[in-house]
Amino acid sequence: MKPLTAHGKAILFGEHSVVYGHPALAMAIEDALCATRVTARPGGVKVHVPAWGLVCDDGADSKIAEALRLLESLLPGSGGMDLEVASSIPMGAGLGSSAALSVLLVKALAHVRGMDLDLTCVRNTAHALERVFHGNPSGLDDATATYGGLCLFHKGGADRLPFAEQLDTQIHRLHLDPPPLVVADSLVKRSTAEKVAWVRRLREEDPALVERAFLAMTEALFSGVEAIRTRDRQALGRAMNTCHKALSDLGLSCPELDRMVEVACSAGAYGAKVTGAGGGGCIIAFAPGREEAVKQALETAGFPAFTIQKEGWI
Ligand code: MEV
Repeated sequence: MKPLTAHGKAILFGEHSVVYGHPALAMAIEDALCATRVTARPGGVKVHVPAWGLVCDDGADSKIAEALRLLESLLPGSGGMDLEVASSIPMGAGLGSSAALSVLLVKALAHVRGMDLDLTCVRNTAHALERVFHGNPSGLDDATATYGGLCLFHKGGADRLPFAEQLDTQIHRLHLDPPPLVVADSLVKRSTAEKVAWVRRLREEDPALVERAFLAMTEALFSGVEAIRTRDRQALGRAMNTCHKALSDLGLSCPELDRMVEVACSAGAYGAKVTGAGGGGCIIAFAPGREEAVKQALETAGFPAFTIQKEGWI
């Protein structure tokens, strides 16, 4: 049997603005989570992710346990499971760990209960679990965790791009080579739900400020897509920097993240930005051919980093 996996994600453009109907572009961190053991268990669901120090069963008093109980009720049939997961991404750092875990839980319990779910069903069920973790998520993370690749998300519907394949009403897969990235973790912990609530409050207090930032991010997204299509490195780097500045204007950066962006760009990245909910977590840097130098510089500055290599850009 093929191993059960789920993708992490790096948002290239449009975090937060996507919650308000603006488009967003995310790139999968392919197969970031992989089930290393899935066995049937009569007494409910138990999950263990050693890399995150996470052990939880559905009887516990936590969000994850709540999500496990919901999962059991959403899938037809009965019977639990013991799931052990290997992860190549950190937990709660902006790389879609909760969405990836949600997708893997759905796939694994469906497997144990002998069901063959299509991807739309996997995604919809994972979205319900994401709602337990984050309140009212846009769906960008669970879509990318399910479908993989380069995902353009638009709540309002389809965009007409010749290289876009529609996967469902919200998601297009872009048939373009995703850019190689360096990903680095600030090690500053924060909660996505809190950051989403922060933007909601800011939008009530100063709608013009927030709309200006969202507009800049949407423009950066379309320049970024065109830069990916034409392999224009400078333009893609510029679009990422614009997006970082807009997120920073919304109070979603922090001294560590700003420093990381600076370190990455000084070491040769064309551009860099916070990725995900912000206020901590990770940055992504675009540095084709210079990834090792950028990764080294970030690590020397105290930030663990890894690269996502992609064919076709070097
Ligand atoms: C979190 O990975 C992405 C946000 O845009 C929230 C969401 O899309 O639900 C901050």
